[in-house]
Amino acid sequence: MKTLITGGTVVNATGRARADVLIDGEKIAAVLAPGSSLLGFDVAAHVDVVVDATGKYVIPGGIDAHTHMEMPFGGTFASDTFETGTVAAAWGGTTTIVDFVVQYPGQNPLDQYALWHDKAAGRCAVDYGFHQILSDIQAPSLDAMDELVAEGVTSFKVFTAYKGVFLSDDGQILTAMQRAAANGAMVMGHAENGSVIDVLVQQALARGETAPIYHGLTRPWQAEEEATHRLIMLAHLTGAPLYVVHVSAKQAVEQIAAARGRGQNVFGETCPQYLYLSLEEQLGAPGFEGAKWVCSTPLRSRAEGHQEHMWKALRTNDLQVVSTDHCPFCMKDQKELGRGDFSKIPNGIGSVEHRMDLLYQGVVTGEISLERWVELCCVTPARMFGMYGQKGVIAPGADGDVVVYDPNGRTSIGMGKTHHMNMDYSAWEGFEIDGHVDTVISRGTVLVDDGEFRGRVGHGRYLKRGLSQYLV
Ligand code: URP
Ligand code: ZN
Ligand code: ZN
Ligand code: ZN
Repeated sequence: MKTLITGGTVVNATGRARADVLIDGEKIAAVLAPGSSLLGFDVAAHVDVVVDATGKYVIPGGIDAHTHMEMPFGGTFASDTFETGTVAAAWGGTTTIVDFVVQYPGQNPLDQYALWHDKAAGRCAVDYGFHQILSDIQAPSLDAMDELVAEGVTSFKVFTAYKGVFLSDDGQILTAMQRAAANGAMVMGHAENGSVIDVLVQQALARGETAPIYHGLTRPWQAEEEATHRLIMLAHLTGAPLYVVHVSAKQAVEQIAAARGRGQNVFGETCPQYLYLSLEEQLGAPGFEGAKWVCSTPLRSRAEGHQEHMWKALRTNDLQVVSTDHCPFCMKDQKELGRGDFSKIPNGIGSVEHRMDLLYQGVVTGEISLERWVELCCVTPARMFGMYGQKGVIAPGADGDVVVYDPNGRTSIGMGKTHHMNMDYSAWEGFEIDGHVDTVISRGTVLVDDGEFRGRVGHGRYLKRGLSQYLV
């Protein structure tokens, strides 16, 4: 199958140009001067499919480097399966996800890795890779890290919160970082001081403060700043690269910026919810409504200016990646578990379908440039997690993962409109985007076109990732 995308503006991290893109089989074969003739040869006359992208942007397929499909968590499972979640991803212009294999205490990471393959194989609509969560850092887990790197799992998430579930102590984290420094892996850090949070939660509940907003009020920015600083220091001590996930506090960004200023390999990710949503408006919604937006790190106070600071950090490269931390739960039977006790609300928000659109709105409002949008959502995730060249770029030899994005289109987000995630509500209800995902192509196969899903569950393949290509 040969596909030619004509008339569009190709956007990579370093610039934009009018060009036609030829995909031959699964790979990009050529990026051609507009008009798609090559040495007098009329390329358009020799392809199977022509996609007219006139007036539109042609960008690399989106890469969401932080998802939790069907994750067992909070007494239930994240409501999107690999099937529903990757179909939703495709609808939104994301052609690659990196999901987290979970190790709970007592489990062997290698067994869990095999289990995640069983869950995902043959069920994904887009390509997928894995990170490994480590929550039982002992000698077997450390040895498993080496084996997993060879399997293409080149990044490991450690937690400073969720005692008894995910939390590791500083010594354990240190040993994981030492191993990563030796084998070249990236350490991903969930940075919140869990001990402090656990006490604040118990004190709040004892006062009868049970509503969802107390989830945010008991996870203050000081707990995020402190743990971010601690992880940065442990990374410094060991020489491991550190990628801080779901950063929401401006003070945590400042810690990351300071470490980067010292020349350390420290990176940060934020998510759309920390750019647009707030403690006051969403988490503080009346009654139990706020449960829809319970996630950790929590939505932060708009009065304190965190959201504005996240946008600024995306511009200045204090933060490098926007992922979703897609971890959806329905209100019915799932978020409901925490009615009367906010600490029992499963933590997570579903956004995998909307990341490209939500960030594009930042281009419209002038928060980020068009190229920076592509860099944050496609290019840097590929480089950060060892996929660049195959993914994250429109260039000959790369996978034919391409999104045609219409800047003159419009996207109304909400139930019954654009919603394909397996959730009974949208965290983004009513959001209007001045842009539209028109055509989504993965390895030369059209997944979405003309408002129709034309992909196939099972099309997605496991991506054996290399080491990070982003380190200094
Ligand atoms: O609330 C969140 N973020 N749920 C997913 C688990 C995690 O810590 O990323
Ligand atoms: Zn986390
Ligand atoms: Zn997460
Ligand atoms: Zn359109």
